[in-house]
Amino acid sequence: MLFQRILITGANGLLGQHLVHRLGKVPGNDVLATGLQHAPRYTGGSCGYTPLDITKPEELHAVFEDFTPDVVINTAAMTAVDACESDRGACWKINVDAVESLARLCRTYGSHLVQLSTDFVFDGAAGPYTENDRPHPISYYGKSKLAAENHIRKSGLTNWAIARTVLVYGVAENLSRTNIVLWLLDKFSRDEKVHMVTDHIRTPTYVVDLADAVVRMVRFRKSGLYNISGGELMSVYDMALQVARVYGYSTDLVQPTDSSAFKQAAARPPRSGFIILKAQSELGWQPRTLSQGLAHLGATLGLSTFA
Ligand SMILES: NC(=O)c1ccc[n+]([C@@H]2O[C@H](COP(=O)([O-])OP(=O)(O)OC[C@H]3O[C@@H](n4cnc5c(N)ncnc54)[C@H](OP(=O)(O)O)[C@@H]3O)[C@@H](O)[C@H]2O)c1
Repeated sequence: MLFQRILITGANGLLGQHLVHRLGKVPGNDVLATGLQHAPRYTGGSCGYTPLDITKPEELHAVFEDFTPDVVINTAAMTAVDACESDRGACWKINVDAVESLARLCRTYGSHLVQLSTDFVFDGAAGPYTENDRPHPISYYGKSKLAAENHIRKSGLTNWAIARTVLVYGVAENLSRTNIVLWLLDKFSRDEKVHMVTDHIRTPTYVVDLADAVVRMVRFRKSGLYNISGGELMSVYDMALQVARVYGYSTDLVQPTDSSAFKQAAARPPRSGFIILKAQSELGWQPRTLSQGLAHLGATLGLSTFA
């Protein structure tokens, strides 16, 4: 049995919590979960937890020295796209400078670094994208995540992998941020109408599938860039219609609009989404369809579904 020490940053976030639960169960894995908070936001999870702010080099050094990770999965990030636009200093510190420090430490300690990235590295003129398409971010968040990718590539690390993902939905405990499906469920349950854009095209990703792909990247010690998302390309409006149908709400609650109706600090790529053939063939991984993902989520939430 391969024994490996796995460090997870941002372990209280949506993906972080799923990774903690998945990786902590595998015999031979010694998992150290870390997050900004003094204690984990989740219950269960058979692994250690220690507070870690990845922007604090002395905290990072101490964790590497104590734990000497074989693998580091960096899910920590400033993920609120509009907040990144308005607080650029904080965004750069978390999304870029901290990743540079992590890459340096991974090189020193010989750790395999798995970094999470985003479809927002693209301008959204010509999605869906492959791993070979040229990034061109149009938001500060996208720029910061691309700069982090570039630091990793140039760091001299040989063991690195980047998992780019798209519009992630799912549930975890006491999250600091909601996501599109939880937000829609909240609105629908109060019989509130939502206005959803028809001109933003994505391949929505179920967090359970994303975690599964990352687990495979770790298990097979993959290096390089991987597109990890759902396999169905759809507008955000069509996604919301499907959420309404699957959970038994009236589709009249979902009204079409376009992005010109919203004033947001950050620009969003209109047509992104991923082609995921590389992950499917190299990882032996297959994401759920949206309706399967919503049904699985419904079962977790104890909701009836009509998928
Ligand atoms: N969610 C999406 O739709 C999406 C799409 C594309 C790419 N991604 C990428 O996927 C990754 C995981 O996303 P997610 O959905 O799991 O995000 P999330 O739920 O926002 O989790 C991120 C976690 O990072 C933590 N964090 C923030 N600053 C930190 C710091 N300085 N030190 C340590 N932890 C810090 C946050 O703490 P708090 O909980 O206290 O805020 C949060 O728990 C991110 O890298 C994101 O850029 C996400």
